[in-house]
Amino acid sequence: MPSILVLNGPNLNLLGTREPGIYGRTTLAEIEADCVETGRALGLEVTCRQSNHEGALVDALHAAMGVQDGVVLNAGAYTHTSVALRDAVSGTGLPVVEVHLSNVHAREPFRQVSHLAPVALGVIAGFGPAGYRLALRALAGHLDARG
Ligand code: DQA
Repeated sequence: MPSILVLNGPNLNLLGTREPGIYGRTTLAEIEADCVETGRALGLEVTCRQSNHEGALVDALHAAMGVQDGVVLNAGAYTHTSVALRDAVSGTGLPVVEVHLSNVHAREPFRQVSHLAPVALGVIAGFGPAGYRLALRALAGHLDARG
């Protein structure tokens, strides 16, 4: 069974209470439980991790090499700043779907820049927690087509 890492970055541990007008009221624990459930239905084994630290996110991507088959990554603000994370995504060669709860393209100009998008398999933004489900579906389809 293909194995997927769902990796969340800084401040996403605060979901549920953090700026609910933008990010909604669903907690990270609820999103992660939904990912595991969605993964089960798609025949994927889902493991979830979150860190507020850039290096820990890099380490998590490295640790996924040879262990996981793909990654759903919401890197939070590091999306817009981190060359190290971009290099980790391209360096591991893992298929990564970039996810954002909010539509980053409809927000401040600095959020409209992603260092990850050019090395990601694809990007899903603006659909709230459903974006994680969509990303898992996309990865399942990609892995299936790749064989
Ligand atoms: C986010 C968007 C980022 O710009 C922001 O820094 C986040 C969350 C999102 O899911 O919409 O922390 O990645």
